[in-house]
Amino acid sequence: EGAAHIPNQGFSFQGPFGVYDRASAQRGFQVYSQVCSACHAMHLMSYRNLRDLGLTEQQVAAIASQVQVQDGPNDEGQMFERPGRPSDRFRSPFPNPQAARAANNGALPPDLSVIAKAREGGANYIYALLTGYGDPPPDVHIAEGMHYNAYFPGHQIAMARPLNPDQVEFADHTPATVENMARDVATFLQWAAEPELELRHSMGIKIIVFLLVLAGLAYAVKRKIWANAH
Ligand code: HEM
Repeated sequence: EGAAHIPNQGFSFQGPFGVYDRASAQRGFQVYSQVCSACHAMHLMSYRNLRDLGLTEQQVAAIASQVQVQDGPNDEGQMFERPGRPSDRFRSPFPNPQAARAANNGALPPDLSVIAKAREGGANYIYALLTGYGDPPPDVHIAEGMHYNAYFPGHQIAMARPLNPDQVEFADHTPATVENMARDVATFLQWAAEPELELRHSMGIKIIVFLLVLAGLAYAVKRKIWANAH
């Protein structure tokens, strides 16, 4: 049994000229850290990577310092906790997959570092998933502890609806509707999975321009060389 067709949200990063909407991705990081990070790790991400989203060094240091990370052993051979630094990886909610499953009815919340690349549909799928909760159709039976979702393959997902209206408060006064939060966190997760997208796009454009110039030159040279041919 498949899932519903995933609607296209027309994200700013789609298409050959696409770039990330940084304000949206920053809000998406806020959604991740205030909502999703309770269950989902992003072990490939470091706090300093947020500089690429337009956050200042000071903002990144402040965000990192809000978490306590394990460090050590120190000179006495002891492990200790200290405030996070920009070079630290994002703190994981659980020490290991067993603990993660134990806290989630046996289901494993996947690491979200590259989920936008790992799932067909990418950001459009993530948006659809987060906004796809609802009552099951009358003929669909949902097992205990599971939830109906129109876009999850099989329609039964262990993750309860994670987003509810006004769950976060955005500094730029963007209304925290479920749709806005879903859009922003999908943008953030796409950026996390594919930070080189903009470079790839601009490189592609430069290569096409170069090839056009080269083709024009080749044609001009050909005309000149063969100008007197009979
Ligand atoms: C699965 C995103 C919040 C628990 C997933 C998946 C994504 C996702 C993309 C994978 C679905 C798939 O396999 O195709 C998010 C986002 C969140 C969020 C963006 C924040 C807005 C949470 C929270 C919890 C949670 C707060 C725990 C209370 C889970 C679990 C699964 C899951 C247990 C596995 C579901 C299954 O395989 O049936 N989530 N999640 N998630 N999430 Fe979340």
